[in-house]
Amino acid sequence: MSKFIKKEMTRREFVKTASTAIIVTTVSSVIPTFAIGGMAKVKVGVLLPFTGTYAKLGSHILDAMKMRIAQNGDKLGGRKVEYIVVDSEMNVPKSTQRTNKLIRKENVDFLVGPVHSGIGINMARLVKGKKVIMIVPNAGANQITGEFCAQNIFRTSFTSWQTAYPAGEAMLKAGYKKVALLYWNYAFGKQTAAAFKESFIPGGGEIIADMPTPFPKTEFQSFFTKVAALKPDAVFTFYSGGGAIKFMKDYAAAGLQRKIPLWGTFLTEGTSHKAGSASEGIRSTLHYSSELKNATNIKFKTDFKRASGDDADVFAIQGFDTGSLMIQGMNVVKGDTGATKELTRAMGSARIDSPRGMFSFSKANHPIQDIYLREVKGGVNKVIGVAAKALEDPAIGCKA
Ligand code: BEZ
Repeated sequence: MSKFIKKEMTRREFVKTASTAIIVTTVSSVIPTFAIGGMAKVKVGVLLPFTGTYAKLGSHILDAMKMRIAQNGDKLGGRKVEYIVVDSEMNVPKSTQRTNKLIRKENVDFLVGPVHSGIGINMARLVKGKKVIMIVPNAGANQITGEFCAQNIFRTSFTSWQTAYPAGEAMLKAGYKKVALLYWNYAFGKQTAAAFKESFIPGGGEIIADMPTPFPKTEFQSFFTKVAALKPDAVFTFYSGGGAIKFMKDYAAAGLQRKIPLWGTFLTEGTSHKAGSASEGIRSTLHYSSELKNATNIKFKTDFKRASGDDADVFAIQGFDTGSLMIQGMNVVKGDTGATKELTRAMGSARIDSPRGMFSFSKANHPIQDIYLREVKGGVNKVIGVAAKALEDPAIGCKA
């Protein structure tokens, strides 16, 4: 666990029962409403995973968001900040109660989360049209920018479509015609596969095997046996976090690494160094690479390493940009979280100086951003091209 979380824990109360969430909250005497000139803290509720296969993703998002706000004097719009942090445990059914608790009982001003798309869909459904402002720092479910889009819901990450559609085009360009798909069988994996097919099949590609695997399980051997027998030109995947490391190592151990090129979106993100030589040569399409040479990224990587002890990755930059978005919005309304309309308008028109490169938001409050083509060389995700320039999600079903 990072320095940021550890420091916070000395001031926290842990409440854990067999049936309830792990609620981690600061001990404070909070004045719930903001009066101009008053000292009420801004309440930021956080619902992220700190256990399980996505634990690192959650802690990187939180660490980097806190780091960004710390760089702003630990304040939003001149007011101090209180964090109420809840472990999502990647549990979709429990996310209803956890979200409602943060909004209704804790009365948070901002709700930050989650990582997992199934939880993201659930949270967006609960939050749409409410007073609280939700910022999604990862979960890519298309619906958050589609049918559940709302003035009070923002995303600083990506959609399933935005990361996978360019991969279909890039793989065709690389000369692959017959591809096998392997992905975790839940909302994000399924949407990733669908977006890939949307560009790959009309472009002349053929999916010779479509293999969803149980989430978050990591027994891949039987699927690799099928891949070896089918001999596709290449494999396209979605796995992330701890499961992705196991996937890459097992793929190499099965003797496939040198025979059938492996592609993905998040597969090598924050994981390439841990997979060692098993990650070499893997290509991916994503909106960030730690190898980007812009000044914001160079500074971010140093700051994040110092703050957390870890190397920067896409999850950390999404947390950092979540902090920047709150800072920009709250500066405009001078800390008045009651001015919801002005605050959400300011957030929607923000330009974020991100380590991924500068970006702005679409009408659906979603980043319009470049998608890079990357290849792991020497353990890092080198940028070898731009797979899609200033890509905007089509926001199908968004009526906001
Ligand atoms: C998702 O569930 O949306 C997701 C989880 C990990 C990495 C990327 C996306």
